[in-house]
Amino acid sequence: MTAQLIDGNALSKQLRADVATRAAALTARGVRPGLAVVLVGDSPASQVYVRNKVKACEDAGMHSVLEKYDAALTEAELLARVDALNQDPAIHGILVQLPLPRHIDAHKVIEAIAPEKDVDGFHVASAGALMVGQDGFKPCTPYGCMKMLEFIGYDPKGKHAVVIGRSNIVGKPMAMLLLQANATVTVCHSATPDLAHFTRQADIVVAAVGKRDVLTRDMVKPGAVVIDVGMNRDDAGKLCGDVDFDGVKEVAGWITPVPGGVGPMTITMLLVNTIESAERAER
Ligand code: GUN
Repeated sequence: MTAQLIDGNALSKQLRADVATRAAALTARGVRPGLAVVLVGDSPASQVYVRNKVKACEDAGMHSVLEKYDAALTEAELLARVDALNQDPAIHGILVQLPLPRHIDAHKVIEAIAPEKDVDGFHVASAGALMVGQDGFKPCTPYGCMKMLEFIGYDPKGKHAVVIGRSNIVGKPMAMLLLQANATVTVCHSATPDLAHFTRQADIVVAAVGKRDVLTRDMVKPGAVVIDVGMNRDDAGKLCGDVDFDGVKEVAGWITPVPGGVGPMTITMLLVNTIESAERAER
């Protein structure tokens, strides 16, 4: 192995300790930071995600509420709940877990969240703010990836970053954040012919596709920083990312493991956004 590991657990621990300090200071001034997590339906994966988010909040000394609803909840009922949380002064961040049941328009629900409580960074106002370089909440996963670069002291300025994937949650905001950090950014996706042609030129590769072995050893420039956002299962049922870790670690300079890389950072940045929201509300 030549690559150094980027330890998402270690960085998360540091950042969460800072969040806990800020939460305690706010609470002492009479503002207990609060996050509301809304789950509709009984997807086992979503149940695990929301439980982890709520627990992370509590561990940081923040207030959290988990609202769980039956899959039959109507869109109007969900919109009414979001509106009530918008008005609730004890709540500084609102997260509606995705995916939602098919009869509910997820865009409509996300647009109903007050942008100042949009700690997921999914609202069009948050996406627009990121696009034009204004203040707004950054989506947690790409924000966490930027923190990982900072953690290893890697400045993207003047570097070529290749983002694989163009989702609204990861790929697109990741590209905007790297651009803001003065990288030259290429976004590749499912219709990109010859992906390796691009990744071989990259100083930074972010893989966010949701498919195993999207990035293999032969596709990576020696010394590159490789960030793996994927969460998949291998044939043995073991958690793995989008990157062929065993092959790529032999050529990359830095690499994030799965698990223990980007995963813990996503929840950490949700806490960071929520504490930021509570601090803004106090000002
Ligand atoms: N579903 C999978 N990841 C996420 C996330 O980061 N936020 C929300 N709201 N739903 C998700």
